[in-house]
Amino acid sequence: MDNLLKNKRILLVGGSSGIGLAVAKQAYKAGGELILASRNAAEKNNELVSAVGHNIETYSFDVTSENEIVTALEKIGKIDHLVITARPYITPALFVETNLKQAQQAFATKFWGQYQLIQKAHGQIRQNGSIIMTTGIAGEKIYKNFSTMAIINSAIEAFCRALAIELAPIRVNIVSPGFVTPKSSQVEKYAEQFPLGRIASPEEVADAYIYLMKSPYITGTTVVIDGGARLI
Ligand SMILES: NC(=O)c1ccc[n+]([C@@H]2O[C@H](COP(=O)([O-])OP(=O)(O)OC[C@H]3O[C@@H](n4cnc5c(N)ncnc54)[C@H](OP(=O)(O)O)[C@@H]3O)[C@@H](O)[C@H]2O)c1
Repeated sequence: MDNLLKNKRILLVGGSSGIGLAVAKQAYKAGGELILASRNAAEKNNELVSAVGHNIETYSFDVTSENEIVTALEKIGKIDHLVITARPYITPALFVETNLKQAQQAFATKFWGQYQLIQKAHGQIRQNGSIIMTTGIAGEKIYKNFSTMAIINSAIEAFCRALAIELAPIRVNIVSPGFVTPKSSQVEKYAEQFPLGRIASPEEVADAYIYLMKSPYITGTTVVIDGGARLI
């Protein structure tokens, strides 16, 4: 095993669950110093220590709250990598039936949350560090009922390329997962048509974040990890 993540301080916002938690486990095993954050991560400290390992730090803050972000970042100090996997809540709906307030809230979490966090945290990222944002298949392929996620994810992909220029030499990349969770028989049936014939595990998606953190020459890029789902 290489030592590229050994003693690296990695702030994982959205790290208390799902893909973020899977990244935390892998990065911890690779010798990283993990800081897990989400709205309730500190309250789940014992559970997260059991899941990831003893030497983790946990912070509770909401990515939509500037005050909470600033207070937490002051305590966290310098980091090497910032990974953001905070997931917004949105009910799938046709555009004409979409609840505008809910769509704006999803934007506030997933787009403005990542934007605000990076604006506040980038000065704390050490040399050779990186930022990894998360988008999703709805930005790669258009599905009925997912127009809100399509525009949020596409906006983040443009934002990533802009940041790769403006924040260099900090590297800025994206992981775009396909179908991971929640599992349902309907999604699993649909996934049989994918070239790889199934949905992904959070661990398989986590591999892409680890790869991007370790790769010194990748910036402004989206790694799509969808088993070929966008091609059908
Ligand atoms: N799962 C999939 O199939 C899939 C597919 C495509 C794309 N994605 C994308 O991948 C990312 C991770 O998804 P996931 O399925 O792993 O999510 P998840 O299991 O639901 O976990 C989401 C994480 O975000 C945190 N969070 C939510 N709102 C937050 C806020 N306002 N401020 C701070 N933290 C917040 C949650 O913790 P708290 O509740 O404690 O805040 C939790 O740690 C998301 O961007 C999602 O859109 C997922």
